Amino acid sequence: MKIQQNKSLKTYNTFGIAATAKFFCEINSLTDLEQALQLDQYPEKFILSGGSNILITKDIEALVLHINLKGKKVLETYENKVLVKIMAGENWHQMVLWTLEHGFGGLENLSLIPGNTGTSPIQNIGAYGVELKDTFESCEAMEISTQHIKRFTKSDCKFGYRDSFFKNEGKGKYIITSVNFSLSKKNHRLNTSYGAIEAELEKQHIENPMIQDVSNAVIKIRQSKLPDPAKLGNSGSFFKNPVVSKLEFDTFTKDHPNAPFYKASENTYKIPAGWLIEQCGFKGKRYGDAGIHENQALVLVNHGNATGAEILNLAQTIIENVGGKFGLAITPEVNII
Ligand code: EPU
Repeated sequence: MKIQQNKSLKTYNTFGIAATAKFFCEINSLTDLEQALQLDQYPEKFILSGGSNILITKDIEALVLHINLKGKKVLETYENKVLVKIMAGENWHQMVLWTLEHGFGGLENLSLIPGNTGTSPIQNIGAYGVELKDTFESCEAMEISTQHIKRFTKSDCKFGYRDSFFKNEGKGKYIITSVNFSLSKKNHRLNTSYGAIEAELEKQHIENPMIQDVSNAVIKIRQSKLPDPAKLGNSGSFFKNPVVSKLEFDTFTKDHPNAPFYKASENTYKIPAGWLIEQCGFKGKRYGDAGIHENQALVLVNHGNATGAEILNLAQTIIENVGGKFGLAITPEVNII
């Protein structure tokens, strides 16, 4: 295991922020991970995976452990379903394509989400009517203090909207090493109810879609709205959509009858933050190299050389403006470091 010094993290975070890690180490096996966590000369460790959900606002003094654990396999096969085990360092989208190539259903709506598999349970990633929790079976994680591997079931993970145990009680205590998904082998239960998917399938004249068709439709929609981090630095949705009570919702819609919304639960509603931000006039704006994406106002972008602090500053301005205009608090979904 080699410890590198003063390593640029620009290519290790999808925002493309040019921060530096004082110490950096690639983790290619569970033994590497165990040994790295025991390096007492570096008392602070920082876990970096796909770098797709972080905004780095300063250089990192800790030892950065870059999780590069690889491997995908079918663990168990039943008549209608399979259980697959995916190591944490596998790229999420490549993994989804692998499941589709094998004819396994369940992850197609989550195509093209940036990042790695190991971090997907932390914020229960979701898109187009499906969340990770719908196919998640369990995950394994190394406890940082003991280096013991512990298995977490779905209920242990306490999944919520962009939320889990690992963002709350478990924060900073575990490193997810692998994730098991339960996927369908036949009679796939497609979820095409999200409006944009139906419209895209119709456009392609597909009446009886297969899992691959749904994946292709999602890829098309994402490509039309969301910037490719390889071309324009970003971290997907920067904010969560605010969830409001029925009372707050009624007041809000009285003032803004044209606002889009989703019912989140019996008594709560989600209001798209992208709409709120667009109404404040931010969509497509650029302040130096920090900006708001032209096709989706929920996405902040780095046009080249923005610093993390500049992006954070822009985020704060947006939060203040949305709060001032609508009386609604929006909060970042991206981890700010
Ligand atoms: N909208 C606007 N202006 C905008 C953006 C959106 O008016 O600039 C409106 C849209 O017209 C639509 C509504 O807001 O009526 C919702 O927009 P969209 O379908 O694009 O979804 P979203 O709520 O903005 C969420 C997720 C995305 C996910 C999409 C699709 C969050 C924080 N974001 O965005 O997830 O891809 O739904 O399911 O929940 C991510 O987390 O990184 C991410 C991209």
